[in-house]
Amino acid sequence: MSVDLLLGLQWGDEGKGKIVDVLTESYDIIARFQGGPNAGHTLEFEGIKHVLHTIPSGIFHPSAINLIGNGVVIDPVIFKKELENLAPYEIDFSTKLLISKKAHLILPTHRLLDAASEASKGKAKIGSTLKGIGPTYMDKTGRNGMRVGDILTKSWKDRYRTLTQKHIKMLDFHNVDLEYDLDELETQFFESIETLKKCQIVDSENYLHKAQDAGKKILAEGAQGSLLDVDFGTYPFVTSSTTTAAGACTGLGVAPNKIKEVFGIFKAYTTRVGSGPFPTELFDEVGERIAKVGHEFGATTGRARRCGWIDLVALKYAIRVNGVTQLMMMKGDVLSGIDTIKVCNQYKTEEGLIDHFPFDINDKSISPVYLEIPGWEEDLTQINTVEKLPKNFTDYIHFLERELDTPIKIVSVGPDRKQTILR
Ligand code: GDP
Ligand code: IMO
Ligand code: MG
Repeated sequence: MSVDLLLGLQWGDEGKGKIVDVLTESYDIIARFQGGPNAGHTLEFEGIKHVLHTIPSGIFHPSAINLIGNGVVIDPVIFKKELENLAPYEIDFSTKLLISKKAHLILPTHRLLDAASEASKGKAKIGSTLKGIGPTYMDKTGRNGMRVGDILTKSWKDRYRTLTQKHIKMLDFHNVDLEYDLDELETQFFESIETLKKCQIVDSENYLHKAQDAGKKILAEGAQGSLLDVDFGTYPFVTSSTTTAAGACTGLGVAPNKIKEVFGIFKAYTTRVGSGPFPTELFDEVGERIAKVGHEFGATTGRARRCGWIDLVALKYAIRVNGVTQLMMMKGDVLSGIDTIKVCNQYKTEEGLIDHFPFDINDKSISPVYLEIPGWEEDLTQINTVEKLPKNFTDYIHFLERELDTPIKIVSVGPDRKQTILR
């Protein structure tokens, strides 16, 4: 049985949580494959708004199993809070939530190292969510990390101590003023480890292989977005994991030839939170309007998201890197009432016009070249069929489908589960 894959094509926050929730009724298992609590995936239904960080977005459906894969990094403290926030929903975590033994742990000192690293960079900082993501993945690839399976062994606290002592020395190296109370942080951490221990900790790749043999339908849920990928994103202003399709193979143990549909999600415009290049960024009242109407504030940090026009150069690149088979366009409703929509389809560089994503878009000499498309006045948020969508909006969809050479199968016109139109 094949595995489908859902991931963001921009700089994150495309609406992955909403769509995973919508699609879950067609799947048996939802499996997160990378990232950690830097993610904030928002779901809305029946007047409830909920933000998930580590737990997959299928958790509200009674039948689906939700699995946190080996590629994810888990902060036990945040994970415990997530479970507590979900308490009112009476979810049976003992049967519905599985955690990979191979997922790496974010330690309190990883968070401190993240803060120290960012502080030492000054203006050149990445704009990290400061959740300890970079240092944890560094320890993973440096072969020093601690995994969820380790906490089931007797000697894990010795290894924890050794690693933490090394981190403290590394903090000194950064030479920045950082106030912290390690005892307090560790008290919270060890308490949370006890909560983690009570969860179902499994050999997740083995579980998924058996599930595939049994014909179960699996949806792999990505975090962040393709332009934050450690290889293909706007390096160094990226996260530390493989956010693109290949990350589902390494982050779950799913073989590439078992992946069938690749759902690529994008907003009808672009946003970015944190530092780094953003060729189509708007600094005018249109950008402010998009931010306001779209409530563009980070689900994890509350930071204002930078807003701009859609970037087809970047989207085409992301579609190719991921092998996207179906697109999903989010937040078209936010653009209602804007007279003219701009679409970037080329970059102007010192070497002339280019339509591929270059090595370095950090280069200030890059500027976007725009096509103009007539906007639409109508409110889209109450529309529930393709036929009722205004002509100019439908034309925008057709234009994007032609340019991107990929069908747009879902159009989202509001944050609620119900505000989703299938095409
Ligand atoms: P994720 O990280 O990709 O899951 O996305 P986030 O949850 O961080 O950000 C998406 C935001 O847009 C959330 O606040 C959603 O509730 C909201 N949202 C999702 N789809 C739509 C849509 O079609 N229209 C509007 N107006 N809001 C949406
Ligand atoms: P979801 O899954 C948007 C950004 C941060 C920063 C950079 C590195 O909700 O789409 P990190 O904490 O990973 O060291 O930060 O990546 N970033 C995100 N931006 N959505 C996210 O996740 C993000 N996760 C990280 O703002 O620029
Ligand atoms: Mg988000």
